Amino acid sequence: MAGYDEAYRRSIDEPERFWAEAALGIAWDMAPSVATRDGRWFPDGRLNTCYNALDRHVESGRGEQPALIHDSPVTGTIDSYTYAELRERVARAAGMLRALGVETGDTVVIYMPMVPEAVIAMLACARLGAVHSVVFGGFAARELAVRIDHARPKVVLSASCGIEPARVVAYKPLLDAALEQAAHRPAHCVIVQREQCPADLVPGRDLDWARAVAEAEPAECVSVAATDPLYILYTSGTTGSPKGVVRDNGGHAVALHWSMSNVYGAAPGEVYWAASDVGWVVGHSYIVYAPLLAGCTTVLYEGKPVGTPDPGAFWRVVSTHGVRTLFTAPTAIRAIKKEDPSGNFAKKWDLSGLRHLFLAGERLDPDTYHWAADLLGIPVIDHWWQTETGWPVAANCVGIEPLPIKPGSPTKPVPGYDVRILDPDGRECPPGVEGAVTVKLPLPPGTLPTLYRDDDRFAESYLTRHPGHYLTGDGGYLDTDGYLYVMGRIDDVINVAGHRLSTGAIEEVVAEHADVAECAVIGVTDQLKGQLPVAFVVLKSGADRDPAQVERELVALVRERIGPVAAFKRAVVVSRLPKTRSGKILRGTMRDIAAGAPYTTPSTIEDPAALEEIATAIKSE
Ligand code: COA
Ligand code: AMP
Repeated sequence: MAGYDEAYRRSIDEPERFWAEAALGIAWDMAPSVATRDGRWFPDGRLNTCYNALDRHVESGRGEQPALIHDSPVTGTIDSYTYAELRERVARAAGMLRALGVETGDTVVIYMPMVPEAVIAMLACARLGAVHSVVFGGFAARELAVRIDHARPKVVLSASCGIEPARVVAYKPLLDAALEQAAHRPAHCVIVQREQCPADLVPGRDLDWARAVAEAEPAECVSVAATDPLYILYTSGTTGSPKGVVRDNGGHAVALHWSMSNVYGAAPGEVYWAASDVGWVVGHSYIVYAPLLAGCTTVLYEGKPVGTPDPGAFWRVVSTHGVRTLFTAPTAIRAIKKEDPSGNFAKKWDLSGLRHLFLAGERLDPDTYHWAADLLGIPVIDHWWQTETGWPVAANCVGIEPLPIKPGSPTKPVPGYDVRILDPDGRECPPGVEGAVTVKLPLPPGTLPTLYRDDDRFAESYLTRHPGHYLTGDGGYLDTDGYLYVMGRIDDVINVAGHRLSTGAIEEVVAEHADVAECAVIGVTDQLKGQLPVAFVVLKSGADRDPAQVERELVALVRERIGPVAAFKRAVVVSRLPKTRSGKILRGTMRDIAAGAPYTTPSTIEDPAALEEIATAIKSE
C-alpha cells in the first residue's frame, strides 16, 4: 500500500483522479462523469445519503448488525438498533415528514438532546432530500429563534426535555419561546415526549413524535444531485449572526466514507464512538454520517465524561460496547484527569479492544496528550478541523500510514488539503514561522461550498483575505518536517470546552445592559475548558453600580440570550478599554495577554494605562 507521502502527493497533483477513485466507495444512482467542475464536486452525480448510510448495508447483509447504540447513563438505559431496525425507523420518520408536507429541498430544524430520534430525524431528512439544520440543545431560545428565521424550516423536530446531570432541561418551553420571538412560522413541530418531563402540545401545530411516526407510511429514498444540500449547520462567526455552513450530499458522502478507513483506520463492522453532541460538526460527521456510511456501529452517548456517575464513564462505554476507536475533545480528557489523576477508574475496565484515541475540537496540550497516552498505552491522535471543512484537515492518517507523533501537533495535512501558512502580505512563511493557516484552493470534497443564503459572506469570510486560499481563522506554523502546529484563533472566535463561540455575539448581549457604555469580551485561558469568556465592561458615566451586582446581571443576561453553553461567568468592570488613537479597541493585544503570549504595547495606543489595567485584571482571573 502506498504511504502517506505518495497518497498526499497524488491528492494534490491529481485531485480529480484521487477523488474519482474515492467516489467508488459510494453507491450512486447516477455515477458522476467528472469529479469536479466550477469548484463543485461530482456535479452530475446523483445519490441518496441515507441509502448509503442504511439501506445499502441492509442489502449487503449487515441488517442484523447494530448500527446505533444509545448509551444513556443519565436515564440509566442502553438501547441498540440494528441496521434493519434503524432503516425501518428512519423510513417511518421520513414518511411522517412527508405527510407533514416536507419535500426535497425543504428545511427542517432539529433541536434535540442526545436521543436516538435525533439521529433518526437527521437521516429521515436525508432520505427525502430535505435539508436539516440541527441546533445544539445548550443554546437559549433567542439563538434558536435566529436560526429558525434564517433556515425557515417547514417543520421543527424537538423533544420535551434534555437531561443534564444536575437538572432536567425542559426543551419545549425554549422552543415555544423561540417560536414567539421568530418571524418565521413552521407549519408543525413534532415532539419526542420523554417521561422525565412531558411537554404540553399546542393543538393544530404540535404533534407527538411516537404517534405521528406510528401512523406514517415508510418513505423510500429520494435521489438527489450530489451538489444538493444535505444540511446546514450554524456556527459562530466573528459577529452575532451565526454562519450557516452548507454541506452537499455527494462530496460529503465520498469524503466521510474515505476518512473512516484512511484517517481513522476503522473497518466495517467495528464499533466507533465519537463522544460529542449531534449539535456540533463532530456529531454530524462522526456520530451520524461517517460511521454509518462505513458500516460501523456508532455509539450515541447521553452523559458526561465525569459525574455520570464517575470519571470511569468513558471507560465503561468503551469496555461494554467493544469500542475500537474513540473520538472526543481534549477538555473531556482533562475533566477525567482532574477527577482521577492516577487513572484508577480506567483500570477497572477491560480496554484491550481500544485501538486509537482521536482528539479534536481545540488544541491538545502536551500534558493532556502524555497523560492519556501513558494511561491507555495506545496512539493518542490529535487532529485539527472545523465546522466548515466537515472532516479533518490535519491528522495522523493511521489508515494510510501511521507517522511518528509529535505532541502539540496534529501531524500533517490530510490528503486533499494543500495547507499553506501565509504572512499578512500573502507570502508563504518559512518553517517555524507563525502565520495564518490557509488551504490553497481547491478545497477537497465534503468542505463547505457556501454559506446558506449568503454567498457574499462566504467569499468575504474565507476567500477574500488571501485570494486563491481558504482562510481557516486559525494561526500556526509548519515545522521543517512538514508537521502543522495550530496555535489558536486569530479572529474573535473562542473555544470553550470544545464549543465554538463568538465573542462578538456575547459582546452584543453585554452591550444591551442599560448601564454598559462599552465592552470587550475575550477568551481567557482556563485549565479545564481551554478558554472561558470574560467581559471587560465600562459603565455609563453616572451609573453608580456595585460591580458584583452588574456582573450577576450580565451573567444572567448572557445565559438567557445565548444559553448555558457560553459558560459565561465573569464580567469585570474597568475604568476604560485600551484603544488606538483612532478609537479601535485593541482586541488582538488583549487576546495575546489572555493567552499568556508575549505582547508589545502598540505605538498607536491612546492610553497605555488602560492596557495595564486590563493586564492586571486578566492576571488575577
Ligand atoms: N442542553 C442543555 N444544556 C446544556 C447542554 C445541552 N445539550 N450541554 C451543556 N449544557 C449546559 C450544562 O448543563 C452547563 O450548564 P451549567 O452552567 O448550569 O452547569 C453549561 O451548559 C456548560 O456545559 P459544559 O460546557 O458541558 O460544561 P460542564 O461543566 O457541564 O462540563 C465538560 C464540562 C468538560 C465535562 C464538558 O464540557 C464536556 O464533556 N466537554 C466535551 C465537549 C465536546 O464534546 N465538544 C464537542 C467537540 S468534539
Ligand atoms: P468547530 O468549528 O466548532 O469544530 O471549531 C473549529 C475550531 O476549533 C478550529 O478553527 C480551531 O480553532 C479549533 N480546533 C479544532 N481542533 C483543533 C486541534 N486539534 N488543535 C487546535 N485547535 C483546534
